[in-house]
Amino acid sequence: MQIAIGSDHAGLRLKRAMKAHMEALGHEVHDVGTFTEDSTDYPDHARHVAERVISGEADRGVLVCGTGHGMAISANKHRGVRAVCPLDTFSARKTAAHNDANVLCLGERTTGEGLAADILDAWLSTSFEGGRHARRVDMIEP
Ligand code: RB5
Repeated sequence: MQIAIGSDHAGLRLKRAMKAHMEALGHEVHDVGTFTEDSTDYPDHARHVAERVISGEADRGVLVCGTGHGMAISANKHRGVRAVCPLDTFSARKTAAHNDANVLCLGERTTGEGLAADILDAWLSTSFEGGRHARRVDMIEP
């Protein structure tokens, strides 16, 4: 899969770990920044990942900040993005299967690296089920 990944300064370390994790699984991961620990604004990085997912350059996107929530709020402002911030693997699977979530957000300050990797794996390995869920997902866009 082609994955776009981004973070702010508060998500930099977890982003690097998740990038390495996905590459080890054979995914092609494009990092849109940030690349240093200097303070930066999460909506900018959310936009860069959102644009790649919407354009089709990336199949899915991953965003990391302190909690994941600022990234999810920001990414969901972009039409065509369905960003989620699951804290468990069951939810991660269901957001892919039922909500066709195309961007996963993680919090470096809230979620340990091991759980984050499990959440990411559950989400990446699950496909959208379509059917009645497709009708509902179509209803989301205004
Ligand atoms: C940065 O301090 C922090 O506010 C940001 O990473 C994120 O958690 C916002 O949702």
